[in-house]
Amino acid sequence: MSVMSFDTPRHANNGSSPTAERLELDTGALEAAKHSLEKGAVTPGYGPWREDIIKLLNDALATEIVCTLRYKRHHFTAKGLASPKIAEEFLVHANEETAHGDMLAERIVQLGGEPDYTPDTLTGRSHADYDDSLDLQAMIRANLIAERVAIEAYQQMIRLIGDKDSTTRRILESILSQEQEHADELSDWLTD
Ligand SMILES: [Fe+2]
Ligand SMILES: [Fe+2]
Repeated sequence: MSVMSFDTPRHANNGSSPTAERLELDTGALEAAKHSLEKGAVTPGYGPWREDIIKLLNDALATEIVCTLRYKRHHFTAKGLASPKIAEEFLVHANEETAHGDMLAERIVQLGGEPDYTPDTLTGRSHADYDDSLDLQAMIRANLIAERVAIEAYQQMIRLIGDKDSTTRRILESILSQEQEHADELSDWLTD
């Protein structure tokens, strides 16, 4: 390993070190990108994890759909309860979970996959649970648990993807920050 030294060098170095790492593009990969046009945005340098990432995104999509359904259910059933403000906020969350699902589905298609909206298997693939509580505090608690599960899942996905796919990672990071806002709001409403 060559160590940068700001002292006077002991040996004259009249050229670049043979061990120095160069920052150069892989021109072979640039050439390969001109082929396989049917793969759209997925170039040969993408790596072997495309299928795994699509699976992670589809499980997250299922989670977002179940979260949308749970918040919609809570919005309409909480409307007659004491706190219309919280009922309205459940609708805001429902719409944001739908938007998260749309972002995931769009990325799945960009990666050459198919977004899985199969209703029969949704709850089995979702990380978070559906809930049909009738009590407002029970709803808040169920939503907070679901948000915390979603936060944990997105954090794990972000760590797994690392620098393998920076576009997907940025999408997941933006969703994660909104799930953290949801959890923060819900915890403020929890009375015990
Ligand atoms: Fe979400
Ligand atoms: Fe959320």
